[in-house]
Amino acid sequence: MGAIGAGGTLRRSHAAALTALAALLLLLLARQAPAPPPRPRPALAVPVAADVMPPSQPLADTTKLEASKIEPSKIESTVRIVPHAGTSVRNVTAAPSAAPTAATPRRDPRVVLTRDLYVAGHEQPHPELCPALGAHLRLLILVTSAPSHSIARDAVRLTWGHYAARRDVALAFVLGSPQESMRAALEAEDALYGDLVIGRSFDSYSNLTLKTLSMLEWADTYCPRVPRLLKTDDDMFINVPRLLRFVSTHENVTRTIWGKVVRKSLPKRTMKSKYYVSPLQFPGKVFPDFATGPAYLLTSDAIRPLLEAAPNEPYLRLEDVFITGVLGARLGMKRQHVAEFYNKKVAAHPCAVQRGIAIHMVQYHEQFDLWRKLLDGKTKCAS
Ligand SMILES: *[C@@H]1O[C@H](CO)[C@@H](O)[C@H](O)[C@H]1NC(C)=O
Ligand SMILES: *[C@@H]1O[C@H](CO)[C@@H](O)[C@H](O)[C@H]1NC(C)=O
Ligand SMILES: *[C@@H]1O[C@H](CO)[C@@H](O)[C@H](O)[C@H]1NC(C)=O
Repeated sequence: MGAIGAGGTLRRSHAAALTALAALLLLLLARQAPAPPPRPRPALAVPVAADVMPPSQPLADTTKLEASKIEPSKIESTVRIVPHAGTSVRNVTAAPSAAPTAATPRRDPRVVLTRDLYVAGHEQPHPELCPALGAHLRLLILVTSAPSHSIARDAVRLTWGHYAARRDVALAFVLGSPQESMRAALEAEDALYGDLVIGRSFDSYSNLTLKTLSMLEWADTYCPRVPRLLKTDDDMFINVPRLLRFVSTHENVTRTIWGKVVRKSLPKRTMKSKYYVSPLQFPGKVFPDFATGPAYLLTSDAIRPLLEAAPNEPYLRLEDVFITGVLGARLGMKRQHVAEFYNKKVAAHPCAVQRGIAIHMVQYHEQFDLWRKLLDGKTKCAS
């Protein structure tokens, strides 16, 4: 501590003077400038450096580090760095050298909660996709997809998605809100098939969690009486008959998520990783057990509690960790490993296809190959 010495103090008071000057300028500007237009949604993260962080580790440095290492889109959905003139002006005038922990608020203001990002509702809800609110269905399959993936959706419709012709199975694609340039094509596609549910949060990779929430919201609003929901993606092959068999042999189960359950997974703390998670988003050392995102099955009594718990949690881009792990654990839901949820690419032997429930990383043409192998009546498989 003593090593900081007079130089540090000097620099610190110098910095304080500068910030005070800047604050004064901001104040003057704010007086003169017309009021800014109201923000559509309240910005949550108000980074108030002075009273949250100890002066010896200025927040600005860490944020600069983050900003230089990760793309803006990642910052957007993780930590919002929005200067908020009002607050900083008020607080710079307070002694910045005050004890750092004295004013620590209950929640770190840099944490972005899920409710600050999620936009509820659907542009195109298609309630008719779930007749009688799901009372006669055994299974609802919701396939998350991106606006530009029309080819992948076609492959699903022409292959395993066919099972939605059954009266006890319903299927829809769930998309986020598209860019304006995609709208016309999506409207045309939906006019043909009527199976696109479009949410109100913008569709992007870092918004995947929001898409899953949009999916849960749709199931809760338009299909609340269905007993089981399969969440899957448009690059998956789903063996629907096998899945229906699984559903009927596990029928009296409540508050459960089945899939490929990963245990003791560690958050990636290096910012270069595609799966980077900051300690603000997830402070723990180990993720709770979670079912991987490509496909998981839920009892529908899990849907409402998940939707209710999500808004108050720090936003996490890893939708599977967030929904099935963080929320699943918080709500005390069972997460059960089922080996038939391969959720990975497999050597497409007909028996592997016939024995599995979910195969990942399937491209357009591969859907037809897997579909043929599923329905291959010739190969003798053990079970
Ligand atoms: C700003 O500083 C004042 C005075 O020290 C303090 O009472 C207040 O809680 C701070 N504002 C915020 C938003 O923390
Ligand atoms: C995520 O969705 C929200 C709500 O629509 C939007 O404001 C935000 O820009 C999106 N983020 C990204 C990175 O696309
Ligand atoms: C589920 O419960 C019903 C009614 O209690 C019972 O008839 C049925 O056998 C049970 N199914 C399974 C798979 O245990």
